[in-house]
Amino acid sequence: MKDMYILAIESSCDETSCAIVKNGCEDIATVILSQIDIHTNFGGVVPEIASRHHLKNITMVIEECLKKSKLTMDEIDAIAVTYGPGLIGSLLVGVEAAKTLAMVYNKPLIPVHHIAGHIYANNLTKKMEYPLLALVVSGGHTELVYMKDEYQFEKLGETLDDAIGETYDKVARVIGVGYPGGPVIDKMAQEGVHEYNLPLPLNDNSYNFSFSGLKSAVINLAHNYEQRDVELNKANLAKSFQDVVIETITKKTLKALKDNDIKRMIISGGVAANKSLREGLKKVCEENGIECSYPDLKYCTDNATMIGAAGYFAYKKGITADSNLNAKSSLSLV
Ligand code: KG4
Ligand code: ZN
Repeated sequence: MKDMYILAIESSCDETSCAIVKNGCEDIATVILSQIDIHTNFGGVVPEIASRHHLKNITMVIEECLKKSKLTMDEIDAIAVTYGPGLIGSLLVGVEAAKTLAMVYNKPLIPVHHIAGHIYANNLTKKMEYPLLALVVSGGHTELVYMKDEYQFEKLGETLDDAIGETYDKVARVIGVGYPGGPVIDKMAQEGVHEYNLPLPLNDNSYNFSFSGLKSAVINLAHNYEQRDVELNKANLAKSFQDVVIETITKKTLKALKDNDIKRMIISGGVAANKSLREGLKKVCEENGIECSYPDLKYCTDNATMIGAAGYFAYKKGITADSNLNAKSSLSLV
């Protein structure tokens, strides 16, 4: 079969990204312009500011990516774009850019769900084989997704309230260590010991998660120490928090794997960059004869490469859109 080159665009949150991906697995060129430095001043992403920056940078990011790939638009077979879920103003910038490219150059347009992108980030590192269980852990999502076959998604469980990445970010804000919180807490936890007793979130038999109770417990603990004018050991709190998070995620994931007799799993989303989570899951999987893999670090957080990878398989399933495609802030994977 002829090689297929997809130009992909991702702008659902605070990264403006364009990539060119060959056959859903080969990263030909990737450009990611992060707005982290801008949003750090506010302790989180400000939607209005994010969309303004996407608008300012999208053309430059696409041009830069094409230049890096040494390909021309004639050699591109299709355009893929994240159309949801995410920040509506941010998504709209990417969707309009993709629609324009598809129309001007007469290419098929492929709508991609952001989470499908995170899942297919794995295919850039190692060819995905089925059936598998995907653990999706990002700033906005915490889900267990069963994939019987290519581009087939079945949700087994999800968070009932806050997403795990969001919880990391909130904890980091409460203890005053900056945004995004995940990488900082992860690093601090390596230097701490488990000192504080925190509740194990939603410790039940379901495949669902709940992190709001844990978040509140950390906030209350921090306030309590502040009121008593006692210094909190931030590294120890990071370690105590992370231990509880990893224990609950590992427990639920293993249960889903065993109950459904699934022998393969992948980790995806920004929190998949977490070293302890990767190592913890890998170890548990090894002990239970389950294959566990995760994407290269550079493909964990938001990027257009993963959208190009997912777009290839969506296209093979006949998923395309026309100029009526609209961005959707909330959009279910299944
Ligand atoms: O997937 P992503 O880039 O955006 C969404 O789709 O939401 O994920 C971003 C999230 C942030 O909440 C960030 O704090 C978290 O991923 N994150 C981490 C790590 N690196 C990024 N969380 C824990 N440990 C990390 N090493
Ligand atoms: Zn994401």
